[in-house]
Amino acid sequence: MSAAPQKTFYLETFGCQMNVHDSERLAGILEGDGLVAAEGVEDADVVVLNTCCIRENADNKLYGHLGHLKAVKDRRPDLQIAVGGCLAQKDRDIIQQRAPWVDAVWGTHNVGRAGDLLATAGATGSPVLEILDATLDDDEAFPSALPVRRDQAWTAWVTIQIGCDNNCAFCIVPSVRGPEISRPFGQIVREVEDLAAAGTVEVTLLGQNVNSYGRDLTTRLRGEVDWHHHAEVTGAAWATAERPRARPLFADLLRDVARIDGIRRVRYTSPHPKDLRPETIEVMATESAVCPHLHLPLQAGSDRILALMHRGYTAARYLEKLAAARAAVADLAVTSDIIVGFPGETESDFERTLEVVAEAGYDSAYTFIYSPRPGTEAAGRTDEMIPAQVAAERFERLRIVVERSALARHQARLGRTEEILVEGPSKRDAGVVSGRTAQGKLVHFPAAGMLPAGTWADVRITRAAPHFLAGELLAVTCRPSHRTRIPVVAG
Ligand code: 5AD
Ligand code: SF4
Repeated sequence: MSAAPQKTFYLETFGCQMNVHDSERLAGILEGDGLVAAEGVEDADVVVLNTCCIRENADNKLYGHLGHLKAVKDRRPDLQIAVGGCLAQKDRDIIQQRAPWVDAVWGTHNVGRAGDLLATAGATGSPVLEILDATLDDDEAFPSALPVRRDQAWTAWVTIQIGCDNNCAFCIVPSVRGPEISRPFGQIVREVEDLAAAGTVEVTLLGQNVNSYGRDLTTRLRGEVDWHHHAEVTGAAWATAERPRARPLFADLLRDVARIDGIRRVRYTSPHPKDLRPETIEVMATESAVCPHLHLPLQAGSDRILALMHRGYTAARYLEKLAAARAAVADLAVTSDIIVGFPGETESDFERTLEVVAEAGYDSAYTFIYSPRPGTEAAGRTDEMIPAQVAAERFERLRIVVERSALARHQARLGRTEEILVEGPSKRDAGVVSGRTAQGKLVHFPAAGMLPAGTWADVRITRAAPHFLAGELLAVTCRPSHRTRIPVVAG
C-alpha cells in the first residue's frame, strides 16, 4: 500500500526583501507541518499570496489574482487560499469581504500562525482572519525563532528591526508595519553564528531604518533588573570602556556580526541618510567583511520637496555625508532610491534632483514614479498631483542620468580582477554563471562545467553595461572557508 501523497503549497511573493524573508519563514513553517513545495498553482493544495502595498496599487493586482484562484477553487474545492503580508495587514477584513473564497488572512506580525490558521480553516470549513498590531513591549514581535526554509545555504537575510518611526509624507510603511522595534542584540548575533556554523558566508541585515537600530532597546528595558536579559537585549559589550554607551548603535551590531567566524560578507539595507552616523562609516571602513556598498535613499534633490517629504536633510547635507563615506571607505559603491512626481514637484525641483543625482554619481538607483498611498500625508494633496504624462517624462530623464553615471562607474572597473560570490547559472545563457562583487555588482562570466552557487571566483572584468558587468574566469575557490585557489586560466 502506498503512502498518501504529501500535501503541497505554492507561495507567491510581492515586494521587498522583508517579504522575501517572510516567505522563507512561511515555507519553513509549512514544510514543518509536512507540506512540500509545488511547482505552481495548478499542483498546489495550498496557495499563499504574500502581499506588498508600498508602491503600487497592489490591490487591483491582488483581487485579479484572487479571481483567477477562485476559478481554480471552483474546480478543486479542497484548494486552500491564504493572503499574508502588508496588504493583508492594511486591508484586514476587506479581503474576505471582497473575496469570500479566501480561507485564511494573516498580517505582518503573525506569520508564525500561518500553519495553525490554515489548519483551523481546514477543520472548520470557515474562513479565518488574524491580524496583530506589534507593540513596543512585544518581544514576540520577532518571528526570528520561526523555522526558515532558505533557498540558498551560503547567503541569508537576517531581520534586525521591524517597523519605522519616521513619517515620510509619501510612505505607508509606518502605518502598516507599526513602530520601530529592534530585535535583541544577542539574538541577532546568535542567529548569524548559527548560520555561519551551517556554512553561510554572506548575511544581509534587514530593517526599514537600520541606522536607528537600538534606539528603542533601553526604553524597552526601563525597570529591567535581570542583567543577563539586559545584556542579551542590548549586546553584552555596550558598557565596556571601549564602547561606553547606554545602548548599542547599529555600528556595534555591524562590527560584531562582521567579526563572526566564517562570515565573509555583511550587507545591510536600508539606512536613512539623516540617521547615518560616522560610527557606521568607520565600521564599514575598518571591518573587511562589511561590503563597500552604501544604499542611501535620496528620494529627491530639491530642498523644498525634501522638506515636504519630511526627510530631515537637505541635498547639501546628504552630499556631505556621502563625501565623508566615500573618503573613508575605499572603493565604495553607492546606490539610491529616488521618487519623481511627488505632489507639487515643479520642473525646477525636478532639475535639482537631476543635478544632485549627477553629483552623487550613483552606481545604480531604484527610481519610482510617486504613487499616492491611502492615509499618507502626501496622498491628501490631491490638488497638487503631477499629471501621469509629466511624471513619466521625468522618470525617463532621470533614468538617463542614472544610467550615465552607472555606466561610467562600471567602465572604471574594466580590466580589474574582482572577487565574485557565485549566485547561480545566468537566466539567459546556459554556460554563463552570475555572481556579485563585494560592492554588490552583478557579474556574468562563462564557465565550463557549472559553478555551484556559493563558489568564490576571481573574474577579470572585460565588459561594462549600466546594469551589469561581464568578465572572464581566472580562478575558482570552491570551499569558501578553505580558500584554495584553483587556477583555470593561465596568466
Ligand atoms: N510612491 C513611490 N515610491 C515610493 N516609495 C515608498 N513609497 C512610495 C510611494 N508612495 C519608494 C521610496 C522608498 C522605496 C522603498 O520605495 O523610494 O525608499
Ligand atoms: Fe517609509 Fe521613510 Fe520609514 Fe523608509 S524611513 S520606511 S521611506 S517612512
